[in-house]
Amino acid sequence: MYDLIHAKKTGGALAPEQIQAWVRGVVDGSVPPEQSAALLMAICWRGMDTEETLALTLAMRDSGDRMDLSAIPGTKVDKHSTGGVGDKTTLIIGPVVAACGVPCAMFSGRGLGHTGGTVDKYSAIPGLRVELEPEAFRESLRATGFANSAQTGDICPADRRLYALRDITATVESIPLITASIMSKKLAGGADALVLDVKCGGGAFMRTLEEAQALARSMVDVGRAHGMRIKALLTRMEEPLGWAIGNALEVMESVEILKGWHGECPLAQMSFRLAGEMLVLGGVADGIESAMEEVKRVVHSGEAMERFRAWTRHNGGDVRCLDDFSRLPQAGQRVEIRSGRSAWIEALDSRSLGILAMELGAGRRNQGDVLDLGVGLKVHGTVGGRVEAGDVLFTIYAKAGVPIDPDRFLAAVCWSETPLAASPWLLGVVE
Ligand code: URA
Repeated sequence: MYDLIHAKKTGGALAPEQIQAWVRGVVDGSVPPEQSAALLMAICWRGMDTEETLALTLAMRDSGDRMDLSAIPGTKVDKHSTGGVGDKTTLIIGPVVAACGVPCAMFSGRGLGHTGGTVDKYSAIPGLRVELEPEAFRESLRATGFANSAQTGDICPADRRLYALRDITATVESIPLITASIMSKKLAGGADALVLDVKCGGGAFMRTLEEAQALARSMVDVGRAHGMRIKALLTRMEEPLGWAIGNALEVMESVEILKGWHGECPLAQMSFRLAGEMLVLGGVADGIESAMEEVKRVVHSGEAMERFRAWTRHNGGDVRCLDDFSRLPQAGQRVEIRSGRSAWIEALDSRSLGILAMELGAGRRNQGDVLDLGVGLKVHGTVGGRVEAGDVLFTIYAKAGVPIDPDRFLAAVCWSETPLAASPWLLGVVE
């Protein structure tokens, strides 16, 4: 390990066998964490070339179990988003893609800090099983066309250990390390094709378009080198995605979009476009235009929503809550926060809104914290929108009796006295 750290510190490249030996040592405990931490810091500063990144991804993929989906016919597709506040695209995409005839196999995580996790959002549906063992995962895929679960078993233990070290040593923000972490789990998940949603902006890991492009390029190259069909969309993250932040609230918003409401909002457009790309990679559409037609058709005909009901029922969830939201977890109090001024919204700080939602109990400050699934907030304004003094800007859903300080929510809004040009949500494509 000393030689590896020294080589990387002085700008050298590591051989695949050296990387494999390190990852084996991380998992069996023979490499002390301080040496791994030093190597991670050297990688952060010096980077890794494509061959090293590939070797690290493969070594991490092979550090644990792998999902075998070969018995399921068709091209199995997956989606990954680099994470954002209010991002519930996964809940919308699964039923849409399945209704279009492409098997959709997705693994999701729980949230930590200001971003929520898809598994937590699903947990708001009473009775729904969110941790499926491999055979139950395959059975959901066979029976309903899609499967979405927290990772069970021992998938990529090397990533778990290295991520925990990165988290406490300020070494998360490194393109090769993020690539290997995400792509090792995606490759172990067993899908044949992957659409990536790489977020860019103040609320994302990657702040600039150049950084987002570099991360997307790195992940696409690694996926393709392993025989995956893969494409990345670069999307803007300057405000929460959609109106809901909080688990039951996000289920409600997703259901409304699956029912064909709010079809023009950025959340619907982004979800439908990602689903469309999955249809192209899945081989049922020959281009994005015809894919988008098919996506819109299954939403408007009700087939996508019906698929969500079938999937919920199959996995033990109370399907009645999808049509009667009073059956979802509820908050004890509701507080409206109104604007004190008339102006246009220039920015909505999604990070601080995510932290406020976490403090209400919608997210975890520490791993293992128990969530209050009914709490969160509704964001009424959007960036570029006009607000008049007295308009409701936020509705807060909180535990009964919890004091709410409106100024902390209002501080997340940045105002403009003049109208702003509309900014597109899609910033680019990498394939
Ligand atoms: N998400 C991951 O799974 N890994 C990273 O390194 C960053 C985001």
